[in-house]
Amino acid sequence: MPDPAEIQTMFGRIAPRYDLANRLLSAGADRWWRRRLVAAVCRARPQVVLDLATGSGDVAFSLARRLPAEVRIIGMDFCQPMLDEAEAKQRGMGGCPNVSFRQGDGMALPLADATVDAVTIAFGLRNMADRARSLREMRRVLRTPRGRLFVLEFSQPHPGIRPLYYFYLRRVLPHLAGLITGDRAAYEYLGGSIDQFPSRMDLSGELRAGGFATVAATALTFGIVALHEAAV
Ligand SMILES: C[S@@+](CC[C@H](N)C(=O)[O-])C[C@H]1O[C@@H](n2cnc3c(N)ncnc32)[C@H](O)[C@@H]1O
Repeated sequence: MPDPAEIQTMFGRIAPRYDLANRLLSAGADRWWRRRLVAAVCRARPQVVLDLATGSGDVAFSLARRLPAEVRIIGMDFCQPMLDEAEAKQRGMGGCPNVSFRQGDGMALPLADATVDAVTIAFGLRNMADRARSLREMRRVLRTPRGRLFVLEFSQPHPGIRPLYYFYLRRVLPHLAGLITGDRAAYEYLGGSIDQFPSRMDLSGELRAGGFATVAATALTFGIVALHEAAV
């Protein structure tokens, strides 16, 4: 289980170069994966969205562009340097007034019960020190009966591409990431955390155990990434 204090410090270190590293290391695929997430959220027509583990805010901004202007989007993260990056981007865009950023821990959300219609979490769930607890927290803040959780996360890819993929993850990615961010160790951790993350089927089981009634999982890019949509 990752140590929350170490995770927080690690993301704080890589925050200034996080976006650049994402674009280069995924060859731009990360944008397409987030677009799939945002399209799924739009279909649910939420009024209040919590983007948990928002990082530098890409999902929150993309939601703001696609959803009606009156929809409220809260970008939440426990790492202040990441939120500083998100807020600097927001100033650069000249506002984006329906998005607000707030510091908060995914394992003890500073929100009242049943106050949001959708929770999104992109590439954040595998960093939660206690995944079951964070899923219960997400369930708690969702409204019944329309509440939806959307999890975009690395997954276990199709067996045919596994050897090549894990070679990239273990050998190539930390080296490249070290050159881009100056922090090879952070990406060694990130590669390892992908390795240990549950398969689509296992994560669907965890979501059901966390109080979600129905769960649908979609594999993206040979299963490298999965989008889970869970209804309360
Ligand atoms: C890989 S980044 C993903 C950022 C963003 N969602 C994206 O799509 O690029 C993971 C984020 O999860 C945040 N995080 C990890 N554990 C957290 C926790 N317990 N509570 C809130 N945020 C957390 C980190 O600070 C980091 O910003």
